[in-house]
Amino acid sequence: MTGSAAKSYLTFDRSNNELVIETERLILRPMRMSDVDDLLEYQSNPEIVKYIPWPARTRDQVIEAAEKTIATGKFDIQDENDYIVLVWELKDRDLAQPNYSEGDHLLQKMPAKVIGQSNMAMRSKRDSCADIGWVTHPAFQRQGYAFEATRALMQYAFENFSLNRIIADIDTRNPESAAMAEKLGMRREGEFIDSEFFKGDWCSMWLYAILKREFLH
Ligand SMILES: CC(C)(COP(=O)(O)OP(=O)(O)OC[C@H]1O[C@@H](n2cnc3c(N)ncnc32)[C@H](O)[C@@H]1OP(=O)(O)O)[C@@H](O)C(=O)NCCC(=O)NCCS
Repeated sequence: MTGSAAKSYLTFDRSNNELVIETERLILRPMRMSDVDDLLEYQSNPEIVKYIPWPARTRDQVIEAAEKTIATGKFDIQDENDYIVLVWELKDRDLAQPNYSEGDHLLQKMPAKVIGQSNMAMRSKRDSCADIGWVTHPAFQRQGYAFEATRALMQYAFENFSLNRIIADIDTRNPESAAMAEKLGMRREGEFIDSEFFKGDWCSMWLYAILKREFLH
């Protein structure tokens, strides 16, 4: 298994028409309206959304996007344009607010904390190809969370969806994300020069990809 000798998720649960994947430190689960405050923390950040096709969202825009995701997101991707969004909830709630002293949570249950999200969409049903994306809350970056979540979702997707290939389109100004793709074992297959007019600029894109047989070998 490329970039992941060990099993990358611990369990998954597809009951209730939902997909929930558990990793060592995260629960990947569907978005809920109660996540809005956490989503706002990173979705409103202009640096975080610089290479993502959303604006820096206001609270109302986060609510609107969450409502749409909850209403239209799937737990399986089978047909053209089917997509899933899974948020990453920290399993260890103490990590969400490190200033709490140990005894505090005996008195008060810590709230769940969402620190990022994955998306995956069917790009071509005929060719069994999906694309994937990732975002980590800035306060939780460089701790391996995006890798842990994405590797688990990729493994789950190759094992359970009818996919031969997963791709990621990455802006060439976003080398951090390209390094993530490479750590996942994805191959840079090409660079498309000025291929997108995005947020006011022409931008060049790298196409990253990995095949099922490569990921699961
Ligand atoms: C890209 C992003 C999701 C990485 O999230 P993260 O949780 O910090 O990533 P991880 O800690 O799991 O790091 C995994 C690998 O990614 C690469 N990486 C992540 N951040 C990096 C950085 N700032 N500089 C260089 N490499 C970086 C490294 O290869 C890293 O592996 P390593 O720690 O063994 O070196 C995060 O920077 C982000 O949310 N960026 C803004 C949103 C975005 O651009 N999304 C992608 C759109 S295509």
